[in-house]
Amino acid sequence: KPQWTMLCMQKQENTWAQMLVRAFREASATPLPLLRQVADAMTAEMYNGLAAEGGSQQLKMLPTYVENLPTGEEEGLYYAVDLGGTNFRVLRVLLGGKQGRILKQEFEEVAIPPALMLSTSRELFDFIASEVVKFMAKESDDFKPHSLDVREIGFAFSFPVLQTSVRSGVVIQWTKGFKIDDAIGKDIVAAFQESIGRLGKRIEIAALVNDTVGTLAQGRYFNTDTMIGVILGTGTNACYVEQADAVPKWKGPIPASGQMVINLEWGNFRSPYLPRTFADEEVDRDSVNPGDQWFEKMISGLYLGEIVRCVLVKFATDAVLFGGSVPLKLLKPFSLPTPAISKMHSDDSPELKLVKIVLEDIFEIKNSTLEARKIVHELCGIIVERGGRLAAAGIVGILQKIGRAGSRNNGTPVPNKATAVAIDGGLYEHYAQYQAHMHAAIVELLGENAAQSVVIELSKDGSGIGTALLAASHSQHAKRHKQ
Ligand code: GLC
Repeated sequence: KPQWTMLCMQKQENTWAQMLVRAFREASATPLPLLRQVADAMTAEMYNGLAAEGGSQQLKMLPTYVENLPTGEEEGLYYAVDLGGTNFRVLRVLLGGKQGRILKQEFEEVAIPPALMLSTSRELFDFIASEVVKFMAKESDDFKPHSLDVREIGFAFSFPVLQTSVRSGVVIQWTKGFKIDDAIGKDIVAAFQESIGRLGKRIEIAALVNDTVGTLAQGRYFNTDTMIGVILGTGTNACYVEQADAVPKWKGPIPASGQMVINLEWGNFRSPYLPRTFADEEVDRDSVNPGDQWFEKMISGLYLGEIVRCVLVKFATDAVLFGGSVPLKLLKPFSLPTPAISKMHSDDSPELKLVKIVLEDIFEIKNSTLEARKIVHELCGIIVERGGRLAAAGIVGILQKIGRAGSRNNGTPVPNKATAVAIDGGLYEHYAQYQAHMHAAIVELLGENAAQSVVIELSKDGSGIGTALLAASHSQHAKRHKQ
């Protein structure tokens, strides 16, 4: 260590730690001009990604083949499987058609055994298929308004998929801690359908969708102004409704609606304007997908806690934040989950008791000083503020692409169409400060006037329910359902 570091450590260790915090705050800053640059870069990359396959190194801009967003008139019993985070969910909904909306719904959530995330596609899909079949066996009679013996499911598979139809698609790459090499390039609907077949059940996959698309669909079901679906959870991504003739790389037929839903896969967005720090580099380096998903690694739930942990390791090493040695448990990657930083961040007790408890429980740091706890608290704030504000810039980037972001560029006021953005995901839902920073930054970026026509809505469980709705709107048995 440089001599002056040692001096600071011996004489005024807190001041040194505080200096490090200040430097970290500056490196993480997201002032409005920077956010504008990020939003503009997002818009520009969207154009590149639509121009040609591989037109953007970052945004895949995947056509989803979803042509029928729900109208509210869907009717019958549909299932959905939502795979893509730490848990997966199976659900059933009974849709009332014109007589009512969602008449009844039930779901179960199952933790994915960590080993399966790094296993083979057969093991993964066999496990999921068996959970689906178990759940279906518990279907009660009030979910059976028709005589069909086949059950249709929507499959939310929340990884980058190159779709070849609304019912087929191949995995391009894994994200969010999953890595199942043999699945790359395979049709996942076929793989899932085979696993179901081995169990001898009549279950058909009516729609394969990304979770963002499920979220958009649920948003649309309740609010026809919904144009964008966003996930801010374990991972992050967005999709939106695009004019089909604005997609030069699309060589297929133009859908009757003239519109198509595009999945950005914005987790892989990167830009020199992103305020990346040493901690982001470490998180990336130690992840299962180094070099990929930089935006996701700066703003989503799987990584926010990990960023805080990396900064704490540095502070513990360079500024003896937790006494003379670095606590061993602090060195364990991904040991600080984002709900724990949310808990610490929400602590407004003068002694920062919750911070103390979390540090003790997770890292076995006993007797932390109040000064150290203040620093931990502040770091959570810095990292979460940056995350929420960058997410806002991403959303505004999409609003700009579809002409719903006001008229900042030429100054002529344009009457804005009402636009709704549906958001699902535990990070957005449960982390109040993240949500507040995001909302505030959207208003800053759009300006008060334009912001008035943009509604940000929590689309709770949208990725699951919306996926069941898409199974309904793409059902091959819909007519028979009504009999
Ligand atoms: C990851 C996946 C993406 C998904 C997002 C949110 O970024 O690649 O497909 O939508 O996580 O779950």
